[in-house]
Amino acid sequence: MKIAFIIGTRPEIIKMSPLIDEVDKRGIDYILIHTGQHYDHEMSQQFFLDLELSQPHYNIGVGSDSHGKQTAVMMEGIEKVLLSEKPDIVLVQGDTNAVLAGALVAAKLHIAVGHVEAGLRSYDKTMPEEINRMVADVCTNLFFVPTEETAINLLFEGISPTNIFITGNTVVDACYRNLKIAGKTSQIMPQLELDGDILLLTLHRAENVDDRERLENIVEALLKVEGLNIVFPVHPRTMKTLKEFGMFSQLEKAPHIKMIKPIGYLDFLILQSNSKLIMTDSGGIQEEAITLDIPCLTLRYNTERPETVHAGGNILVGSDTEKITETVSMILGDEGLYQRMKEAPNPYGDGTTSKQIVDAIQNAHDQGKLEIKP
Ligand code: UD1
Ligand code: UDP
Repeated sequence: MKIAFIIGTRPEIIKMSPLIDEVDKRGIDYILIHTGQHYDHEMSQQFFLDLELSQPHYNIGVGSDSHGKQTAVMMEGIEKVLLSEKPDIVLVQGDTNAVLAGALVAAKLHIAVGHVEAGLRSYDKTMPEEINRMVADVCTNLFFVPTEETAINLLFEGISPTNIFITGNTVVDACYRNLKIAGKTSQIMPQLELDGDILLLTLHRAENVDDRERLENIVEALLKVEGLNIVFPVHPRTMKTLKEFGMFSQLEKAPHIKMIKPIGYLDFLILQSNSKLIMTDSGGIQEEAITLDIPCLTLRYNTERPETVHAGGNILVGSDTEKITETVSMILGDEGLYQRMKEAPNPYGDGTTSKQIVDAIQNAHDQGKLEIKP
């Protein structure tokens, strides 16, 4: 059996890494295709180093572009590789343009598609990620869903339960595996030289950072937050628009805000673990926050990770200035609430997701279920 892994961005490298390790450990043949959507050292290569992954067999080198052009170039590149490598299954992870391109190309070549983190829905079709997830799931044969709640989304779309595997999320595998290593090697806390509690912030979702009004409201809230050091590793997309909209210098001048470049995964795990609160619009960080028992505020009006909210570890605050500042004060002013948020049970499994997924793929292969027939 041969597996083709497709990755393109920071979170895909992190969340695919436990699966790549598991496949490698079992001696299964595989190829790793990087689309090159993320290309800066700190958005891509850093994670290969942190996670001790071998270099991709192919890099399509797509770089940044409009969605249409980027997806088209990825499709062309992925198609060439799949035609020559003839894998038995293509694995895509999450909801980026690589997932859309990889799943679509593989389905048309009659190669089985396994979607890791399938079935998530925000029910907000203005998000590019929602379109990517939905199209990918139309092309998917094996659906690896994190939770029962996610499985139900797919059942409502008419997917046969025999093709749905409730496995948890590989984000937990990656977290558990790397936290110990990070504890021994990361120097991020002394490097930051901060006294007092930390609010860790990340922000990169297109609907927040490309929209001047929403970004302005979030910036206003950050400037008003009191009693916390805000540490903000800035995503390149966000750096671009903060500068374009003239908001960068306000944040840079604020004594309680420390803007830094995106940091490596091991440093980021340590920084998350040492934070009082996490504020984010990231998908993966909502999952990591509940895994690491850190209360999370999500800068969105909806989430495709509702389990985190239902479990009590995550609150949606949108991009409303007052809602953001009032929620921070509410959580910090109520020790009982803070503890309850910390103790929210993790809905994403026990760190065995990658084993479960590889077991399911091996079974499907042995039963001839990876052969796509009319
Ligand atoms: C992409 C994914 C998003 C995911 C995020 C993870 C899609 C549609 N979006 O968003 O779902 O949450 O990755 O971080 O696939 N840039 C650089 N250097 C890089 C990469 C990007 O400077 O290495 C800048 C470029 O100006 C680029 C912008 O960031 O135009 C946005 O990058 P892009 O890959 O298009 O989308 P992300 O916002 O990173
Ligand atoms: N991350 C990191 N360094 C950073 C910011 C994030 O290593 O400076 C990791 C984080 O631990 C998580 C992933 O990147 O695993 C989340 O990626 P991102 O927020 O870019 O994408 P999303 O999950 O929203 O698709």
